Amino acid sequence: MRREEVLRNHWFFSQEVGKEEALAPDFHRENWQAIQVPHDWSIYNDFDQYSPAQNEGGQLNGGQAWYRTQFYLEEDASLVSVRLLFDGVYMNAQVYINGQVLGYYPSGYTPFSYDITPYLRNDGTANQLAVFVENQQPSSRWYSGSGIYREVKLLITDSVHLDLYGIKIESPKLKEQRDGWVETQLTSKVSNDGPQSVSVYLEQSIWYDGQQLSDWQATDSIVIESGDKHHFQQAISIFQPLLWDIASPHLYQLKTRLYKNGILVNEEEETFGYRYMDWQADKGFFLNGRWLKIHGVCLHHDYGSLGAVENRSAAERRLRQMKEMGVNAIRITHNPASSILLDVAAKMGLLIQEEAFDTWYGGKKEYDYGRFFEEEATHPEAKAGDFWSDYDLRTMIERGKNNPAIFMWSLGNEVSEANGDAHSLKTIKRLLERVKEVDDSRFVTMGMDQFRFGDGSGGHEKIADLLDVVGLNYSEDNIDAIRKRHSDWRLYGSETSSATRTRDSYFRPDKEWVGDNRRVRNFEQSDYGNDRVPWGKTATASWTADRNRLDYAGQFIWTGVDYIGEPTPWHNQNDTPVKSSYFGIVDTAGIPKNDYYLYQSQWLDLDQHPMVHILPHWNWEIHKSYQQVVDKYGNIPVRVYSNARSVELFLNGKSQGRKTFQEKWTSDG
Ligand code: GAL
Repeated sequence: MRREEVLRNHWFFSQEVGKEEALAPDFHRENWQAIQVPHDWSIYNDFDQYSPAQNEGGQLNGGQAWYRTQFYLEEDASLVSVRLLFDGVYMNAQVYINGQVLGYYPSGYTPFSYDITPYLRNDGTANQLAVFVENQQPSSRWYSGSGIYREVKLLITDSVHLDLYGIKIESPKLKEQRDGWVETQLTSKVSNDGPQSVSVYLEQSIWYDGQQLSDWQATDSIVIESGDKHHFQQAISIFQPLLWDIASPHLYQLKTRLYKNGILVNEEEETFGYRYMDWQADKGFFLNGRWLKIHGVCLHHDYGSLGAVENRSAAERRLRQMKEMGVNAIRITHNPASSILLDVAAKMGLLIQEEAFDTWYGGKKEYDYGRFFEEEATHPEAKAGDFWSDYDLRTMIERGKNNPAIFMWSLGNEVSEANGDAHSLKTIKRLLERVKEVDDSRFVTMGMDQFRFGDGSGGHEKIADLLDVVGLNYSEDNIDAIRKRHSDWRLYGSETSSATRTRDSYFRPDKEWVGDNRRVRNFEQSDYGNDRVPWGKTATASWTADRNRLDYAGQFIWTGVDYIGEPTPWHNQNDTPVKSSYFGIVDTAGIPKNDYYLYQSQWLDLDQHPMVHILPHWNWEIHKSYQQVVDKYGNIPVRVYSNARSVELFLNGKSQGRKTFQEKWTSDG
């Protein structure tokens, strides 16, 4: 029977030992620190002004480290198949089991796994697992964390085992058959790693909320030779499935039982959902037939003081907070998300854009993934001719393809080498092929910043032409020009705003501060919503540009939450005391800044979530701060964000007046 074991406890960590000691059966306890995994060693370091990570990477050093642990197998190792799964190791992991190397895995964010069955001990002694990790900096434009920062698991199955391949729901059928039966097509791969040929069949059924909705449906029985595999296909129909939607994220389970020579050897469960999507160039995005403006945010993966360590409660808190702001979609930047985050999003009803790369072969940092993009993939299960970019992209798509929350795949962020030359065109076609051969049901996109320059025209248009939907980074001023040239493109803002703010710090709200906000501010940015980077827009400006257009499906704001690293406008000024971003609508402690409520006032429905928020405060203890806020009459400008039709402001019981929203009709009606 199938068993999963999370390897959380009894790990040892060292930055002092060499390979010999790391792999030795016995080790010197004093050279090792007892830890739990997930683990991020960089977050424990002191900030280092001279760190090669620079303040862009949070001034936290990476380096090299060894991890080791041991485990015992309850099962007879000759009768089972065992996989070792890593959800993410930053980066360049070398994994050893019982002294034997399993492989080298460069990517810092993509899950990877090995079949460790042949290496296991079957004499009752412990199996030794050791992992070498190297984060040579600079490797990233943000804080990456270092080490085994996501879950590690063992998956123990019978030697004849199942790999659930795909759950496909034909969208047109779902639309048409909403009032009747909807067909679900299932592909399941069964591998026979045992020594003999076996006869195999499957029984499958669909469940919802603990209730069985379809009878167990059996496939034909097939003989599979030792070392071979077989793909089973069958379809199960469900009557009027409840749709997965952002308001009601209905999830279903496919249960599969595997019979070997007539005996049940494995039962597995896969979660999925029913939903359909549409995207029209002139009208934007539709989920389940309903028009939906994408109210998105970009998110990096660290959790402030928790570092990069993945943690289900932290993921839940973060996504819930985004949802309560009115967010309906998240762009995971600029790398694949953790499996935990994807699971939380599916349960909570948040759409996800999964992004494969921040760079292709060009590279942005000396030691980043660009080095491996076109290097031959050496994973034992890579296909002949695979580059790492093929292998990693395929893994990301395979992992997410049954998750209804994922609605877009992004092939890269601000990839300047994607300029329409022969090399880049060959690359985009190769990557598109990798996605479509596994999943052709989601929109493939890229976050492109070349559209913000000039009128947006150039070689990169040839790349955009091949995408399902075109993501514009900071290009609101060019939408008209782009639209004129490409009436058929489906457009949205893949990255917008980059407004900068410090919670509860206020500065001269009478104007927008752009490049000059650095000089006049003491390492803070204004929470009046009037500071931004030169290439960006205030929250108000990027939202109004988006709100007023139907042919721009929405946006992903940079960023939902502050992250360690990139403290623009003091970017890579390493002698400054700042190490985390100002872009977040919420700070690294998870406390909202004022723009959180601005977005609420625009995105939340008055009937369901009436809200009002007032800013700033007027209890100034420091005269200088007071002086930076008052207008020329000595008054403190007060702002109120609300989704109510009108708001009346009182000071000490006396009305200061009432303001009522004007009704506005856009040209799109
Ligand atoms: C974008 C980039 C992001 C972040 C942001 C800051 O150009 O894609 O990763 O650096 O700028 O404004």
